[in-house]
Amino acid sequence: MNTKKNVFHGSDIEKIEERYHIPRRDIIAFGSNVNPLGISPGLRRALQEQIDAITTYPDRDYKTLRDCIADYTGTKREQIMAGNGSTELISLAMQTIRPKRACILGPTYSEYEREIGLGGGECFSFPLRPEDGFALNAARLRPVLLEGVDVLVMCNPNNPTSSIIRRTQLNELLTLCAQLHIFVVVDETYIEFTDDPAEASAVSLLADFSNLLILRGVSKFFAAPGLRLGYALCSNNSLLEEMKRRQDPWTINSLAAIAGEQMFRDSDYIARTRALIRAERTRIYRKLSKNPHLHPFVPSANFILVQIVDHSMTAADFFDIAIRRGLMIRDCASFDFLEDYYFRFCFLLPEQNDRLLACIEEAFPSGQAETN
Ligand SMILES: Cc1ncc(COP(=O)(O)O)c(C=O)c1O
Repeated sequence: MNTKKNVFHGSDIEKIEERYHIPRRDIIAFGSNVNPLGISPGLRRALQEQIDAITTYPDRDYKTLRDCIADYTGTKREQIMAGNGSTELISLAMQTIRPKRACILGPTYSEYEREIGLGGGECFSFPLRPEDGFALNAARLRPVLLEGVDVLVMCNPNNPTSSIIRRTQLNELLTLCAQLHIFVVVDETYIEFTDDPAEASAVSLLADFSNLLILRGVSKFFAAPGLRLGYALCSNNSLLEEMKRRQDPWTINSLAAIAGEQMFRDSDYIARTRALIRAERTRIYRKLSKNPHLHPFVPSANFILVQIVDHSMTAADFFDIAIRRGLMIRDCASFDFLEDYYFRFCFLLPEQNDRLLACIEEAFPSGQAETN
C-alpha cells in the first residue's frame, strides 16, 4: 500500500514542459542528480570516432569493459557484471536473490521496493530519522534484523538524504548480517561524489563478505543517464553467474561499452567533477545553514536535502515558485517518511546554483543575502 503523493520526479522534464508550458531548454534540472559538467570532450570524440561499432554485436562477455571497471574500482574482472544501468542489475539481483522479507533503509530510492514487490517478496522500510541527521542507528536496526529479515538494502550515500554510512559501521553491519544469513545490497550510485570514496565504499569489504552485492552506474557521476550503463560488484561467484544467466544477451549496446571503457580512465574529468562538487557542497550547505526557515541536512553526495522547518510553505509550494523560474527541484513528498516540507536539489555549476540560492532567499528571506 503506497499512500505517498505523486510528485514530479527528477527525470519528468517532459511532464513539466506540458504542465507549465516551459520549453525543456529553459529548465535547469536540479532534481536529476546528474553531474553538471556533461560528458567529457574525450568521450564525445571516442563515440564519434567509433560510431561504426553499432554495425556489430558487442562482446557478449564485455571483457574489455569489465577490465576497465576492475582497474577503476580495484576489483577483479570475475567480480564484475555489467548491466543496462544499475536498474537492470537491481531487477536481476532481486529476481535471483528472491527476498522473502527485505528491510530497506529509508527514505530512499523506490526501485528496490518495486522490484521486491514484483517478485512477491515482503518488504519494509527501516526509518532513518531526521533527528539523527538520517544517519544509521545500528543499535535500533539490530533487533529489527532479527525478525526474519533475509535481505538488507541500503543506498550509500543515500538518496534523498545525502547521508552516508562509513566503512567501519558497514563492516560491523556486514559481519552481523553474515551471522544472521542476511544478504546485503549496497547501492553506491553516488559514492564517487563523496569526499573520500575509497573510505566510504564497501569495495574493500568484497573479499571478506560473500553476502555483499554492490551496485553502481555511470548515470550520475559520468553524466550519462541516457547511455544506460551500470555494474555490479560481488565476490559471490554463484550469485553473479545466476544473475548473468537470467540477463538477456547484449543488454549493454556497443556504444555504451565503448563509452564505459573511456569514462573510467578519464582521470582529469573525474578530478574536475570531484573538485567542483566538493566546493559547491561546502558553499551551499554553509549558506543554507544560516537560513532560520530551513534545515539543510549535512550532504555527502552531489545533492542536499532541505527541510522547511517553520512550515511557512510546503515543498510543493516552493517547487511551484522555482519551476516558474525554470529551476526544477525535487519535492520529496513521494518518499517514505518525508512529509510535505522536504525538498532536494543537486549541485550544478556555480552560476546555476546561485540562481537557485537567490530563489530560495526570496522565498525564505534570511536577511543574509549580502553575505556568502
Ligand atoms: C540510488 C539510486 N540507484 C539507482 C538509480 C538508477 O540508476 P541507473 O540510471 O544506473 O539505472 C538511481 C537513479 O536515480 C538512484 O538514485
